[in-house]
Amino acid sequence: MRLIPRSCRLVALVALAVVGAAPAWSQGAAPPGELYTSARDCARCHQTIHTYWSESEHARSATSPTYLATLEAAIEKAPDKDLARRNCVWCHAPTAIATGDFSLQRAITKEGVSCDFCHTVAGVDLARSDHPFDLAPGNVKRGPLEYARSSAHGTQYSTLHRSSALLCASCHEYKNAAGAAVLSTFDEWAAGPYAKNGQTCQECHMPAVPGADVSGGLDPARRQINLHRLVGGSVASRVRGGLDLRFESVAVGASTADVRVAVANSGVGHSVPGGLSTKSLVLAVGVDTGSGELVQRRERVYRREMKDADGHALTTVAELFQRAASVGSDTRLKQKESRIESFTVPLPDDWKAIVARLEYRDDSDPRAPKTTLVAEQRRERGR
Ligand code: HEC
Ligand code: HEC
Ligand code: HEC
Ligand code: HEC
Ligand code: HEC
Repeated sequence: MRLIPRSCRLVALVALAVVGAAPAWSQGAAPPGELYTSARDCARCHQTIHTYWSESEHARSATSPTYLATLEAAIEKAPDKDLARRNCVWCHAPTAIATGDFSLQRAITKEGVSCDFCHTVAGVDLARSDHPFDLAPGNVKRGPLEYARSSAHGTQYSTLHRSSALLCASCHEYKNAAGAAVLSTFDEWAAGPYAKNGQTCQECHMPAVPGADVSGGLDPARRQINLHRLVGGSVASRVRGGLDLRFESVAVGASTADVRVAVANSGVGHSVPGGLSTKSLVLAVGVDTGSGELVQRRERVYRREMKDADGHALTTVAELFQRAASVGSDTRLKQKESRIESFTVPLPDDWKAIVARLEYRDDSDPRAPKTTLVAEQRRERGR
């Protein structure tokens, strides 16, 4: 992969912005010598949106300890360290594409996927070989409001922001140098029922919530904003909303129970779990004896496994990006898919309930794997 830090097109746009900047716009403008404005500056007026964004993974994408540790590991082993760094930084700290700050020194770079980056993207072309963006940093902020007017900065209505999955695909769809689809969220979505109905990423991940788009609410009719927290699998309630878990049948015998559990991806717009294949969904069935622990635990694991050119399974994020050559297996739940899983569970004498659980497991940070309980169903003894 090749990265050109500064395209001719970008330079031309910046030059125009400098020459054409009206003094009235200068409030929302980048400081002298900077291409992008800090989220802190946007917060002066877009306070509520800023609060949500600052709780998002996007705000932490360039500074999370997991990311920084993985980045170092990825660079360490690479033959061309500069290239390896760029290949890991352009999505996590995308302002670096234009500023060239791939070593994450500047404050704006550390803001990760920041306001001014997203709102100055003018187009996305996934077929491009370096990065997919048409960048237009400057005073004109592009967004979903057709009649926005601001004395702080120029505004432009943008269907890319309002209703196109391409804006998100730019970073959530990725083939590495070997052509392996390390991230395939967009392709999965595009092949399924939600895309056909015109339900884009924004509709589920940025739903309208109460709030003023500008502090003090200039226009009382605009009492709703699009949620900028963009939660995904790391938040249990979000995942629960997209998945169903129930007992299909429970047949209790003398010393065992035959249990059939139905699990469904009823509301996730892509395969679940989405994103990197360091994530998995686990269906666990077992017995509660009152200790709180699940005993006689049995599992089904739903995940996508990527392999290197020699067919070895890859487990770390850096390996996935740098060495993946093919998809080994994919047992994830596709959109609207439901499955019935059967288990035979031995019953200890003191059993109190048969329990089915859905757990979301994230092994992106091997030093601190995370497991979140998504849903639980219980069948009490004697019922
Ligand atoms: C095409 C854009 C893109 C590139 C290139 C990219 N990432 Fe990511 N990265 C993402 C996205 C999107 C996620 C979230 C995926 C998910 O939800 O599973 C992510 C998640 C991660 C995570 C887990 C999140 C966390 O902070 O806990 C780590 C670690 C990470 N990336 C490291 C890297 C490294 C190291 C490289 C270079 C080898 C790299 N990334 C290259 C887009 C990218
Ligand atoms: C001095 C106040 C102020 C500052 C600072 C400011 N904005 Fe705005 N912005 C506004 C106002 C006012 C509107 C118009 C709102 C409306 O019409 O409902 C607006 C509208 C927008 C829109 C909607 C555009 C559209 O057509 O959909 C976006 C996107 C936006 N701002 C992004 C930003 C970003 C990014 C920053 C920081 C780089 C920023 N703003 C800084 C006041 C400000
Ligand atoms: C410039 C690149 C970029 C763009 C554009 C982008 N993302 Fe992300 N996104 C990332 C990265 C990188 C991460 C992972 C951050 C981390 O955890 O370190 C992420 C994380 C997320 C997560 C959280 C995943 C989790 O595990 O909880 C969601 C949800 C998400 N993005 C949705 C979206 C949607 C929807 C859009 C389009 C409106 C979008 N993203 C646009 C780069 C981007
Ligand atoms: C990942 C890209 C991304 C980031 C980062 C981002 N936005 Fe947005 N923003 C969007 C999209 C997409 C929409 C439109 C969503 C829709 O219409 O469904 C939007 C909508 C808006 C709007 C119009 C009002 C609304 O809520 O619809 C404003 C104003 C705005 N964003 C400001 C900001 C500010 C300020 C920040 C940083 C604190 C920020 N955005 C960060 C993608 C982003
Ligand atoms: C119909 C609603 C819906 C649509 C459309 C949708 N998503 Fe999701 N998405 C969800 C739900 C619910 C989750 C949480 C379940 C999960 O973790 O997979 C999720 C999870 C995610 C995650 C976190 C992955 C993980 O499992 O940690 C990312 C990243 C993401 N979505 C990105 C996208 C992108 C990019 C698009 C558009 C191409 C999109 N989503 C379209 C509902 C949707």
